[in-house]
This record gives sequence, C-alpha cells and structure tokens, in this order.
Amino acid sequence: MAKQIWKPGNMIYPLPAVMVSVTDGEGNDNIITVAWTGTVCTNPAMAYISVRPSRYSYDMIRKTGEFVINLTTEKLAFATDFCGVRSGRDVDKFQKMNLTKEKAQYVSAPMIGESPVSIECRVHEVKELGSHDMFLADVLAVHADEAYMDKNNKFHLNDAGLLVYSHGEYLAGDRKVGTFGYSVKKKTSKRKK
Ligand SMILES: Cc1cc2nc3c(=O)[nH]c(=O)nc-3n(C[C@H](O)[C@H](O)[C@H](O)COP(=O)(O)O)c2cc1C
Repeated sequence: MAKQIWKPGNMIYPLPAVMVSVTDGEGNDNIITVAWTGTVCTNPAMAYISVRPSRYSYDMIRKTGEFVINLTTEKLAFATDFCGVRSGRDVDKFQKMNLTKEKAQYVSAPMIGESPVSIECRVHEVKELGSHDMFLADVLAVHADEAYMDKNNKFHLNDAGLLVYSHGEYLAGDRKVGTFGYSVKKKTSKRKK
C-alpha cells in the first residue's frame, strides 16, 4: 500500500456539518455552518466549535457566550450549504432559507425548528489557536424531535437522514454496517429444534 506524505492539513473526515444558531441579544439572529465541531467530554457534557474571527457570527458568540448546535439532515443540505457560503452581514439566513426560530430553554440564541436535534451550549473557554478560535462549551440541554421517537420513547436518530460532510462533499445515507460493540458481541447460539 503506497501512501503519499502531505504537509499538515485537515483530513479528519467524515464530520457532521452543523448549523450553529447565534444571536447578538439585540434582535439580530444568525446561522453559521460549522464542520469543525465535536464532542469533547461525556460527563460533564461538553462540545466545541471552531470559528474564524472574521465570521459575522464570531462576535455574537463572543458577546453572549452562547450558541445552539443544530444537527442537519439531507432535507437541510441546501440550507446548510447556504448558511456556510453567505454571511449574515448581507442576508437574513433564517428568512431566506425559511427556517423556523424556536426559543431555547437556557440560552438566548434561537434553535432551528427543522433540525432533529438542537444542543444548547454555553461557552466555557475560548482557545485562540490560529486561523480559528475554539469555543469549548458546556452542553446545557439537548432537544430531540419526537418525530423520531417510537412508542417506547426510543430515539431513532439515524432515521432522520443525518448529513455528513467529507472532503468538500455532503453525503447522506442510512446503510447500517454495525452497532456499538458489535465487533466483540457474543453470537447468540441458535438452538436446535
Ligand atoms: C460545510 C461547511 C463547513 C464550514 N465549517 C466552518 C467552520 O468549522 N468554522 C468556520 O469558521 N467556518 C466554517 N464554514 C464557513 C462559514 O460557515 C461561512 O464563512 C459563513 O458564511 C459564515 O457566516 P457568517 O458570516 O454569517 O457568520 C463552513 C462552511 C461550510 C459550507
């Protein structure tokens, strides 16, 4: 197997492309698409987003210390891309993409109603890393769409058609190849009849 050696760069894929909703607390709300995001701690629940200081959303997050991470789906792919190539300085992305603002429980930023999962975050620490600043945040609440819950309240997130961002492309697909721990799970012996 021959692999080329490249200079340092970003090549950890796939990633989620999330829509992060923000506010300035003075009536101006915005959405920024972010792929540099992830979970950093289970307990306490913490997540991060990395944002370039030049983004319109950056000052809003700095000011309020709050944001909402909204997971995206195949249906939201167009809006996800749009919110990642147009600035809130020039366009009202909620209005233009016909997205519904929903009031969050703890933070001032609105949630996106069309997202299957919205995660309320409060900034814990800002790490100025270089091109991007990383906002390390405490997760205050997770809002999960009941549309994906069965009668036993089990959440079927993967029925939502989650959107994936990989190497410049958006992917969506629900082909399951395993479940957590399946590689070590004991096979159930089939009883002879
Ligand atoms: C798929 C995708 C992923 C992106 N990921 C990030 C990111 O992680 N951090 C960032 O600062 N910008 C990211 N961007 C770019 C911003 O979303 C884009 O510059 C946006 O227009 C900024 O909006 P704003 O000026 O309204 O804040 C991404 C764009 C796309 C399309």
